[in-house]
Amino acid sequence: MPTRRMILTTAGAAAAVTATGAVGLAWAPGGAEARAPWQIAGESFGDGRLDALAYAILAPNPHNRQPWLFQLVGEHQIDITCDLGRRLPYTDPPDRQLTIGFGAMLELLVMAAAEKGYVVDIEYFPDGEPQPRLDQRRIAVVTFRVGARVPKDPLFQDVLARRTSRKPFDIDKPVDPATINQLIEASVHGSTANGTADAEKRARLIDLARRGWIIEYENDATRRESIELIRIGNRAIAETPDGIAIGGVTMGLLNMAGLVTAKKLDTPGAQAYEQGLSSYIAQIESAQAFVWLTSETNTRRDQIIAGRDWVRLHLAAQKAGVAVQPLSQVLQEFPEMAAPYAETQSELGVSAPGVVQMLARVGYANSPPPSPRWPLSSRLIDAVA
Ligand SMILES: Cc1cc2nc3c(=O)[nH]c(=O)nc-3n(C[C@H](O)[C@H](O)[C@H](O)COP(=O)(O)O)c2cc1C
Repeated sequence: MPTRRMILTTAGAAAAVTATGAVGLAWAPGGAEARAPWQIAGESFGDGRLDALAYAILAPNPHNRQPWLFQLVGEHQIDITCDLGRRLPYTDPPDRQLTIGFGAMLELLVMAAAEKGYVVDIEYFPDGEPQPRLDQRRIAVVTFRVGARVPKDPLFQDVLARRTSRKPFDIDKPVDPATINQLIEASVHGSTANGTADAEKRARLIDLARRGWIIEYENDATRRESIELIRIGNRAIAETPDGIAIGGVTMGLLNMAGLVTAKKLDTPGAQAYEQGLSSYIAQIESAQAFVWLTSETNTRRDQIIAGRDWVRLHLAAQKAGVAVQPLSQVLQEFPEMAAPYAETQSELGVSAPGVVQMLARVGYANSPPPSPRWPLSSRLIDAVA
């Protein structure tokens, strides 16, 4: 098939999709650019598919790796594949969490397309389900068609405001059961959503989450996978707007002064290492309630569905003014996690082949700034006529 050169020009951002594949030609380092995709999502890109993708890339996804690659095919189709270099082999050995992120992205794609009057048909894994890990086969083929009366989704209004919160939650502000229900009811695609603010169950889940975190952090391979993805200071974030962003001018200075560096974060006893450990524990311990998603089997399709439901739950939380943070450590499939993994599945009433796909703390906290994103142009590969 011939390759089509396509130029996107919008909101001052110019990018080209060239015959060589994915590039973000307009990407220049600088403070605000890392968040620009949140600003320009409502612009018109001259193609309904790009308009929808501009929102889809704002989806929650593990370690903010943004592993999606999009290929426009003909006039109506998008083929979606995984950038295999962006997987997380130590913390996510079967690419389960990564696949959930693809599901969240697809849900936002559907919502954004509906806003413009498109119905989206999705075929999941048209070339077969990749196991035991994702591979170069397509994750989904998406087809846009104009619908007569396409219902808009009220949750779409919260897409630009949605955040993952890593602040300690207000310990004087419990989450009431009615609010938890609102979150749970947003999950409609087939995962089972559940939640609790019950003091005893909450204490048991806090204990499990804390144990899971300590295991992940004290295990060299899993800790290092995260450390390698930490971007310290605004410049690093602007240059590589994915991974775990620790932003701000102060952080940049502490980094330059050698106080907060990847090496210090990896050195037990160093202040940066100990703070990394304790700050996440503080987040866990301030959980006012928990929500979780389970599925009856653990196929790739189930994981996609969990992602679609997860982002809906998260958007419903945003609408209700409740902050959310997934706490995934204890759901991870690396061997050292096996004991608390099994206890968590059993605590949440799940047995094989069922699986807990997402677990998150909820509570109240001020909203953080949006997390960085690569520009859409950098996630597009050669369009095909
Ligand atoms: C499957 C999955 C697992 C995640 N696990 C965690 C986690 O354990 N801890 C955490 O702080 N955030 C977790 N997140 C949130 C992502 O880090 C977050 O979505 C990403 O950094 C982008 O930020 P945003 O959600 O504010 O746009 C997870 C998200 C997904 C989809």
